[in-house]
Amino acid sequence: MMRHRSWAEPWKIKVVEPIHMTTRAERERHIREAGFNTFLIKSEDVYIDLLTDSGTNAMSDRQWAGMMMGDEAYAGSRNFYHLEKAVRDVYGYPELIPTHQGRGAENILSQILIKPGDHIPGNMYFTTTRLHQELAGGAFHDVIIDEAHDPASEHPFKGNVDLAKLDALVREVGAERVPYICVALTVNLAGGQPVSVANLRAVNEYCHARGIKVMLDATRAVENAWFVQQREPEMRDRTVAEILRLMCDLSDGATMSGKKDSLVNIGGWLGLRDPSLGERARNLVVVYEGLHTYGGLAGRDLEAMAIGIRESIEEDYIRSRIGQVYYLGEQLREGGVPIVLPIGGHAVFIDAAAMLSHLPRDQFPAQALAAALYVEGGVRAMERGAVSAGRDPKTGENRFPRLELVRLTIPRRVYTQAHMDVVAESVLALYAARDRVHGLHFTYEPEYLRFFQARFEPVGSLKVLDSAVVGADHADPHFVLQTDD
Ligand code: F0G
Repeated sequence: MMRHRSWAEPWKIKVVEPIHMTTRAERERHIREAGFNTFLIKSEDVYIDLLTDSGTNAMSDRQWAGMMMGDEAYAGSRNFYHLEKAVRDVYGYPELIPTHQGRGAENILSQILIKPGDHIPGNMYFTTTRLHQELAGGAFHDVIIDEAHDPASEHPFKGNVDLAKLDALVREVGAERVPYICVALTVNLAGGQPVSVANLRAVNEYCHARGIKVMLDATRAVENAWFVQQREPEMRDRTVAEILRLMCDLSDGATMSGKKDSLVNIGGWLGLRDPSLGERARNLVVVYEGLHTYGGLAGRDLEAMAIGIRESIEEDYIRSRIGQVYYLGEQLREGGVPIVLPIGGHAVFIDAAAMLSHLPRDQFPAQALAAALYVEGGVRAMERGAVSAGRDPKTGENRFPRLELVRLTIPRRVYTQAHMDVVAESVLALYAARDRVHGLHFTYEPEYLRFFQARFEPVGSLKVLDSAVVGADHADPHFVLQTDD
């Protein structure tokens, strides 16, 4: 069937990496050994790896060529100046502090701006961002619009900040206790949902009138800019690059995980406007990351990111990137699988609470679904629900966010349309057999960011997915010959 061809990729494949096909019996063993946590499965045991879009990008020939031009001097590497120029040109921040990845920038930003007892509003939490705010003595407050918490709402900008919620917080604690708002473009845990330019303008006006800074989490801001171009009528005639710049211009700075939008495998930065803040950040980067001209990265990594930044804003690239995510999402939606709508920028999110409605929330339906999907199709996804949300630091109770999701995250420039078809087939098979998925309980729970290393066991069963379900056996030579008709 020919469908959605318009997003076809503006690149061809020059190097390939073989992947390992597994049998269902092998996968049942692997998931048990991994404590039913997809983070603990060995990558070589995964067929299609949709755990994350972070650092999993395929680099271009130009980026690889740039790697050979790495200047590995301890201080003043030329690649730092290339990166600094790329960030100034594309994002517009004059002060550039490189970091090994996004959370390195979050740590520094939190430490220079947050005092104990401060409050930091944001458009939904992100795991590492909130943790760094809390470690710096701050308290995070979710001020995203209500629609973001409703998987079925088709609001075009579900990442938007609710100004009434922001105002209520500022009135309650006082503007002097709110050093900044963190606005994520796009909002990862809401489903890769964008923020509109109009909303960011309103946030900027509100905050700047009260001495509150606006800090972006620019991790997927290019993807956000593409949605703005598609959905915000006044922005229709602007390029993605222009919209990106416009949005950054409405902020005082940004943290960045280059491992997403910027098409690299490692790297990040903190961008700022105020030179005195830049100076304080440079004082800290040497403590946590490395000298201010390398920030924990090799010169070659800085170069690859500088090139990736410029590639990321090419219109044909970003259309194909989001087009591929849409292609997968549409197949699931048409098959009746409950997914977060609209389909987001970097991932398709399955509403695990709706799909596995027979499981109570404290049996972690999203964790169970991710484990079952691996057993079914060799596809690795990620839980983004109660396990990721962790415990409330004050009460010690589990946090049960309204969204209990499984994220099928699409690496950039890595998988083909046929891979997306395999993913869709696996999810649809599991959907048909959803009542045979068992819940999970913890057998090991780490203190911080527990989702990474936690271990589980099925509740009242040895398996997370009953063996009655006939799963794909990729190692079976007949597998590819099986068709519906
Ligand atoms: N902000 C957002 C919105 C992110 O999605 C991430 C990482 C970070 C910050 C932290 O960046 O990993 O470079 O330190 N997200 C990854 C994910 C881990 O899978 O969603 P980092």
